[in-house]
Amino acid sequence: MKLWGGRFEKSTEGLVEDFHSSIRFDQRLYKQDIQGSIAHARMLGSVGVISEAEANHLIKGLTEILADIQAGKIEFEIGAEDIHMNVEKLLTERIGPVGKKLHTGRSRNDQVALDLRLFLKTEIDQTKSLVEQLIQTLLYLSEEHLETWMPGYTHLQKAQPITLAHHLMAYVQMFLRDLGRLKDTLKRLNISPLGSGAMAGTTFPLDREQVALELGLDGVTLNSLDGVSDRDFALEFLASASILMMHLSRLCEELVLWSSGEFQFISMDDGYSTGSSIMPQKKNPDVAELVRGKTGRVYGDLMALLTVMKGLPLAYNKDMQEDKEQVFDAVDTIQKCLLVVEPMLRTMQVHRDTMAFGAKGGFTNATDLADYLAKKGVPFREAHELVGRIVLHCSKNGMGLEDLSLSDYQKLSPVFEEDLFSSIGIEFCVRARKITGGPSPETVSKGIKMSRMLLENLLW
Ligand code: ARG
Repeated sequence: MKLWGGRFEKSTEGLVEDFHSSIRFDQRLYKQDIQGSIAHARMLGSVGVISEAEANHLIKGLTEILADIQAGKIEFEIGAEDIHMNVEKLLTERIGPVGKKLHTGRSRNDQVALDLRLFLKTEIDQTKSLVEQLIQTLLYLSEEHLETWMPGYTHLQKAQPITLAHHLMAYVQMFLRDLGRLKDTLKRLNISPLGSGAMAGTTFPLDREQVALELGLDGVTLNSLDGVSDRDFALEFLASASILMMHLSRLCEELVLWSSGEFQFISMDDGYSTGSSIMPQKKNPDVAELVRGKTGRVYGDLMALLTVMKGLPLAYNKDMQEDKEQVFDAVDTIQKCLLVVEPMLRTMQVHRDTMAFGAKGGFTNATDLADYLAKKGVPFREAHELVGRIVLHCSKNGMGLEDLSLSDYQKLSPVFEEDLFSSIGIEFCVRARKITGGPSPETVSKGIKMSRMLLENLLW
């Protein structure tokens, strides 16, 4: 008989039993569920709703069930619906009628909300440390490549020379923001809904704060309807995870491009590449591509839960059972991706010469030539127009800006002097951009130090 079977005259159809049961996936919450039940049982004992002896009995039974699940000794039942009722059923089978007192003053509605909060708390912490490792690797690579010149792009057309360090440090900023979002999600997530009951609280004098304290939570929810029907914390996590995946995907896209025969900026380590079943010469950046591809799954998880929640009247509705698979999928996907991207980056080989060569072509120093004129008093718009004409002339003749002679330059404007050539050298162009946030090695080096400090703060 079902734990809720009292008011039913007929049993559930087999088809429905299978359809609405969530044990196949929510068994993943067994630890959080039992932790929550232990805290609830202890509190029931300490406020006198049950006796201390009964509470201890429940706690002992729950602790043994936890150990047995961990040892793989338990088979869950589809008929017992979900992890909450599976645990309760096991408990009563093992310790007898006192097991039936565990659910006093509680509903699966507040129970599942608690379990998911506790689960995400651990997983967000784990995700944060994976993001931290990725940031550490990017910082290390940036230090190595402060003077690895490379072209910067807009519209994927060469724009201005920068360094690989500067490029990688852009990703450090993105991942630092991701850490900030995860940390912020934790703040709102870290409260206990237990005591909300089904939706209207309970008449039992429960000590909600005691439960929260035992579970390491900062406080309790302030409205019983909201307590059971809020999934903002899961949505915030999925939204943060989606943005994080978007960052990983952009990074991976660049690695795919850079490792192509056309760019040849980097080579992926063999350990992070795969071959073709037909083309013997192939070495493909599958890992980076797959991370890019998996981004769609996490966006899907976010969209699915947003859609589940959008039309729900207060308070709990069974639709909300659909929250867990999305959250689990996003947690697994994001952690697997983070785990693989970090060593893939750390082991890639950087071809400094190809990068530096790339930094030179395509008139990446044209802005600097215009700036040269502007610094000598030519209005920038006029300088831009003149340099545009010089670029046109040079590109028609297969030349770079540095290949024209001083007398050619002086025919175009008397303002040009010998020092123009040093002003348009690629290295000079980068080194001169000392502005905060700019690519000069000196500035990037400062940026690395500041980012390390930001990282420290975000980990607290
Ligand atoms: N398995 C359910 C879920 O995941 C637990 C809560 C069920 N509550 C209910 N009133 N049917 O949401």
